Amino acid sequence: MTDDSVPYRDVIGLGRLNTAYAQSKILHSAVETRLFDLLAEGPADEAVIAERLGLHRRLLPDFLRALVALGLLERTGDTYANAAPAAAVLVSGTPYYLGDSVRAAAARHYAMWGRLTEALRDGAPKADQAAGPGAFERLYRNPEAARWFLAHMDSAHALVGPQLAEAVPWSRYRSFVDVGGARGHIAAAVAAAHPHLTGGVFELPAVRPFFDEHVAALGLADRLTFHAGDFFTTPLPAADVLIFGHVLHDWEPDQRQLLLERAYQALAPGGAVVVYDQMLDDDEPDLASVLGSLNVALVTGGSEYLVQDCRGWMEKAGFRVESGRRLRTIGSDYVLVGVKP
Ligand SMILES: C[S@@+](CC[C@H](N)C(=O)[O-])C[C@H]1O[C@@H](n2cnc3c(N)ncnc32)[C@H](O)[C@@H]1O
Repeated sequence: MTDDSVPYRDVIGLGRLNTAYAQSKILHSAVETRLFDLLAEGPADEAVIAERLGLHRRLLPDFLRALVALGLLERTGDTYANAAPAAAVLVSGTPYYLGDSVRAAAARHYAMWGRLTEALRDGAPKADQAAGPGAFERLYRNPEAARWFLAHMDSAHALVGPQLAEAVPWSRYRSFVDVGGARGHIAAAVAAAHPHLTGGVFELPAVRPFFDEHVAALGLADRLTFHAGDFFTTPLPAADVLIFGHVLHDWEPDQRQLLLERAYQALAPGGAVVVYDQMLDDDEPDLASVLGSLNVALVTGGSEYLVQDCRGWMEKAGFRVESGRRLRTIGSDYVLVGVKP
């Protein structure tokens, strides 16, 4: 008999939410130890896993059991193999590899979220690297940190490119530039899906070598061009379409307005601006977007913003907003397309 006065569901549900970070840490450690890469070579038992990954035996059995319970490993007798989701996106080199984003969460974001209460009290970002003006320039001074950040962008936003290739009426246009387009991962997806387009990335000069290396490896060096500059001061390049993805959220509202006005000046009539971010919508609250907003607030001091606010900034800059839709991405990105009349 169940005593109805005992709130089983709430105690268990909230008790598990209380320690949900433990599940994240199991995933983080499995990627950090390269367990999924090892098992991509073939199934292995605990002794082999311990030896090949240099792990102590004490915690290992329960660590492996937890990965089975999470649906990331399969156990047959004494051996473990990658389950389908792990084989699909947690093995290095897979097309939608999530490991670089998992590593970023493990090495950087996890500690930062540990200071949320402090941030709620003082309002300040908590990333280990200093935020604020010049933050990206400082990050790129360290080539290893730069590569790490750009790989995280590729990994965390890999689902944007294929959907952006469908969310914009690309047949109307001949060229595009992804402003703040990192090492070209989104630009590459759009260019690959639409062979009639030539494209480019406008980025801080330090990103150039990473862009050159990345687009050459993708075989797109003849279709994608790097434009170096600072999007607040350098004139934006001429193109039919300018993209701002996960860029406006790093800045204050008046700087977002300025960027959209600069885009308007750079485009010819009929040209389009495309903005995507983890935009918020109070009529259809979405946990992933709100968590994304808090994540940005903790990293840079920026935040996400309402879809309606972005529409307002675009219209104030002179654009006619033609379409808006939510994408199927980790952070539930929302994309708005505006046209210069
Ligand atoms: C959060 S990342 C977004 C990357 C990519 N658009 C995506 O969605 O994955 C923001 C990008 O803006 C670039 N950026 C920041 N400040 C810039 C500036 N003043 N001029 C040009 N690019 C800048 C950074 O280098 C970084 O690659």
